[in-house]
Amino acid sequence: MDFSKLRTTEGLDVDGKRVMVRVDLNVPLRDGVVTDATRIVRIAPCLLDLASRGAKVIVISHFGRPKGKPLKEFSLVPVAGRMGEVLQKPIRFAADCIGPEARDAVEHLVPGDIALFENLRFHPGEEANDPAFAQELARNADIFVGEAFSTSHRAHASTEAITHLLPSYAGPLMLEEINALRAALEEPKRPTVAVVGGAKVSTKIPILTHLVAKVDKLIIGGGMANTFLQAKGVEVGKSLAEPDFHDTARQIMAAAAESGCEILLPDDAVVAREFKVQAECNTVPIDAVPADAMILDVGPKSVAHLTHVLGSCQTLLWNGPLGAFEIEPFGEGTFALARAAAALTKAGALVSVAGGGDTVAALNAAGVGKNFTYVSTAGGAFLEWLEGRELPGVAALLSE
Ligand code: 3PG
Repeated sequence: MDFSKLRTTEGLDVDGKRVMVRVDLNVPLRDGVVTDATRIVRIAPCLLDLASRGAKVIVISHFGRPKGKPLKEFSLVPVAGRMGEVLQKPIRFAADCIGPEARDAVEHLVPGDIALFENLRFHPGEEANDPAFAQELARNADIFVGEAFSTSHRAHASTEAITHLLPSYAGPLMLEEINALRAALEEPKRPTVAVVGGAKVSTKIPILTHLVAKVDKLIIGGGMANTFLQAKGVEVGKSLAEPDFHDTARQIMAAAAESGCEILLPDDAVVAREFKVQAECNTVPIDAVPADAMILDVGPKSVAHLTHVLGSCQTLLWNGPLGAFEIEPFGEGTFALARAAAALTKAGALVSVAGGGDTVAALNAAGVGKNFTYVSTAGGAFLEWLEGRELPGVAALLSE
């Protein structure tokens, strides 16, 4: 993809224009309360900037997976409330994203106003990338801005089809995400290291395969490291592992050897007999995991080794925890390595980029979410980008 073709909103004349901004307001909600407003905070500069330049801003988003039906539990109403607080501005809410409600809301906007339309996925045309639905959306706008990198792996009406109907631009967060991720993988300062953790090899084969051809060192953690260890003949006791993927693991190791990528697996492990909070545990060398125990975290020797590895690299890309970080005390390995990465970043020695739902939660639990060079707002889109796939919502903004 030729990213130089991305058109941006910088310097664009939006005065008095109806600017429809596709954002990702798919935020965590509990009992009607937004529990993490990061995605709202990250789109705020774009919306406020457009409003201050005299645009009539129309915000569109999906929320959850209501499967084409208007369901109350997937309404964006509670999110609109939080958006108003974050933006410190009244948000006009339209109870539908197309039809009379949407038209009426837009007709009443004055330059500088911000409106939010109800959940796009209340209409089946959204996920079907239906041109007729996109046309219904587009009739209320003069300009389209793609600001939802975290939804750009979906070719939906509001991310793809609409770009064929309106002059379309990439918003600042979209640009920031693309630039940060490209800086980490496409044009990085070398040597580069990737941390890939998580439970299963089977879900991350394309990522691992893509990364071994790109990075200098690949740290594999979490349950998926157990499959690699087993494939190398190491006994992992009752640990989570996927014996059916031993061949895959061997192929990935062979591909890594061929492209000069060093794969790093744990040297020691924290093991327990039970998978529960505060389970009795101890640390063992990786070749001494008891037959009745399971690996739940990397041990201190691994952390020291991996910290040294990070110290020898200039760029870090992180996706996935090294252990069962959500269960105390099995987050220690992930937290310690995250803190080491944050310290190296602070010292100016490392460019650190992280993404993916679990990863961001782990970094926040370690207290270093704000200390990485860049933390992506994307979950699934970040993973697809790590796989080297073209993201349709980004590609659509590059079209002539
Ligand atoms: C996300 O939260 O990753 C995006 O909003 C995409 O959501 P989806 O997986 O429901 O398309």
